[in-house]
Amino acid sequence: MAMTHPLIPAFFLLITPLLFLTHSLSPAHAASELVEGVCHESQNYAFCIQALESDPKTPAAKDYMDLAVISLNLGISNATDTRSYINDMYESPGTDPSKKPALKGCISGYDGAVGSFKSALGELKQDPLTANYDAKVAGDGAVSCEDQLASGGVKDSSISARNQFTLSLSNIADVITTHLLH
Ligand SMILES: *[C@@H]1O[C@H](CO)[C@@H](O)[C@H](O)[C@H]1NC(C)=O
Repeated sequence: MAMTHPLIPAFFLLITPLLFLTHSLSPAHAASELVEGVCHESQNYAFCIQALESDPKTPAAKDYMDLAVISLNLGISNATDTRSYINDMYESPGTDPSKKPALKGCISGYDGAVGSFKSALGELKQDPLTANYDAKVAGDGAVSCEDQLASGGVKDSSISARNQFTLSLSNIADVITTHLLH
């Protein structure tokens, strides 16, 4: 006798959408108003949400200072990873020697980008105006890398995509540190 009560399927029909609804509204899935506000001001909303939410500390960020620290650390780790990615390519015996001058230019561009993100992080509390300036300047390293690839006739979409990440992270850090000025 496997008779189910006639109301049981109806119960699941009702409860299942409710489970999905509460799941999607839970704090782990909804970006905070602080994060949403910042990302609406940034050049790329979807990238900004994805980048900030990639840090587990973001849901607990309570003000612009917390978010500034998070965004600058993202910039530092991302640009450091890109610098070593390009450096590995530069040192790889399989790399066409004609590409090396452009790659070398990118490495020094990334020395600048990493250095600027780090300076901005160090200045945040004492000197937010200079921190804001350095957050913006960090993107110049990626622009310089892109320029040197172009003038060296090097097409590398993996490096160009990473240059775009650096520019976007610089833009997000610029938006956030601008809020520390008033
Ligand atoms: C750099 O940022 C991009 C975009 O958020 C991400 O896809 C990538 O995993 C990051 N890399 C590192 C090493 O953080």
